[in-house]
Amino acid sequence: MTYLVTDACVKCKFMDCVEVCPVDCFYEGENFLVISPDDCIDCGVCEPECPVDAIVADAVDDPDGKWLRINAHYAQVWPNITVKGVPPADRGDYERETGKFEKYFSSRPGQREP
Ligand code: SF4
Ligand code: F3S
Repeated sequence: MTYLVTDACVKCKFMDCVEVCPVDCFYEGENFLVISPDDCIDCGVCEPECPVDAIVADAVDDPDGKWLRINAHYAQVWPNITVKGVPPADRGDYERETGKFEKYFSSRPGQREP
């Protein structure tokens, strides 16, 4: 079992989740985050931290494995993130939208100031 980041995170990217993870298993894309399923210890601490409920337990909310595949893949190509950055200024415009992954997802890695 693992926890996963899902559609609600796309273009919202609050990043409240990253600072509570005891094993630092979040990875950052341009407009989305993922969890490394290989490293997640299923503690569940991050789940209530997300203001838009984007984090789910795979056994409960990922019946066809879609989000497991996405999280596992991008955890291998994006940079690790452990400190909250500045969320997108227009995140409020996207909080209630669904199907955001198909519409807006960027495969580019997150960019941080050195
Ligand atoms: Fe990290 Fe725990 Fe969330 Fe897994 S469930 S990503 S170990 S905080
Ligand atoms: Fe995304 Fe929620 Fe974390 S919007 S960045 S999963 S706090």
